[in-house]
Amino acid sequence: MRRAKVSIIGAGNVGATTAHWCAAAELGDIVLLDIPDLVGTARGKALDLLQSSPIEGFDAKIVGTADYADTAASDVVVITAGIARKPGMSRDDLLSTNAKIVGSVAQEVKGTSPDAVVIVVSNPLDAMVQRALQVTGFPHRRVLGQAGVLDTARYRTFLAMELGVSVEDVTALLMGGHGDTMVPMPSCTSVGGIPVTRLLDTKRLEAIVDRTRNGGAEIVGLLKTGSAYYAPAAATAQMVEAVVRDKKRVIPCAAYCDREYGVGGFYVGVPVVLGSGGVERIIELELTPDERSHFDKSVAAVKELVAAMAKLTG
Ligand code: APR
Repeated sequence: MRRAKVSIIGAGNVGATTAHWCAAAELGDIVLLDIPDLVGTARGKALDLLQSSPIEGFDAKIVGTADYADTAASDVVVITAGIARKPGMSRDDLLSTNAKIVGSVAQEVKGTSPDAVVIVVSNPLDAMVQRALQVTGFPHRRVLGQAGVLDTARYRTFLAMELGVSVEDVTALLMGGHGDTMVPMPSCTSVGGIPVTRLLDTKRLEAIVDRTRNGGAEIVGLLKTGSAYYAPAAATAQMVEAVVRDKKRVIPCAAYCDREYGVGGFYVGVPVVLGSGGVERIIELELTPDERSHFDKSVAAVKELVAAMAKLTG
């Protein structure tokens, strides 16, 4: 059987750690690409990871490069390229810089891997994935963003900690944009099949949702330099696995919603069926009035972000 080819653009913390999880799960051959100035970093990390394969027991080709020719005909391309927000940098500066970076990466991917499923991880996520769609011109089911798996994993972790139970028994769903406006869905959260609302009162649940909303900031505050990468990378690898193994996983992703949920052509976190075709189906749930009001606020924030990006990129 032919091994899948997974290219990861940006060999920084999230990119390299995604390569690690993907290699360990034997998801395919891996190409790690960074800018020419950092080609040594990309090559060094790729070689180092490759040398772990006899110990870990996986077979894969792993190469580092700065040349998109090496990524040709990838099945999946993960975009983690970008810069982190630096002290004193405005949201618009970050938006404009990362939109330029993601736009230039998407242009290369369009030419070299025209049939790939593209998973965007760079922030601000909901705008960056829209940028990747605009520039590649790929069908929208093949361009999606990683946010929901990470946010839900943080939520599940905190719920398991609170209840003193295994994370494996906590299943949950969060919808909406990545960050402040994420939409908790207590009706879709359960612990060993028991609705979470029967185990925790509203106040405790709200506190856990709040900690989840600030999950990224909490880690930045601890690390001081840089942002989270283990969980973001594990979330990304789970999405890569769903695609290369055609698993039809039901997971929340930033997916392009037009008529779905009445969004009107933007990326927002919704439950999807993820398989070899990318987003094979968006699952539409009837929202309670409270969920709907949170969701609409979230969509409004995404639209504002995309409008700001359009102004900055011309
Ligand atoms: N092409 C390829 N790689 C690029 C480009 C480009 N045009 N521009 C920047 N990069 C690379 C950087 O050289 C760097 O190695 O992207 C990498 C980013 O790595 P880090 O700075 O370590 O950032 P990381 O923590 O990996 O986060 C990457 O993921 O979760 C999001 O918010 C996070 O947007 C950020 C992204």
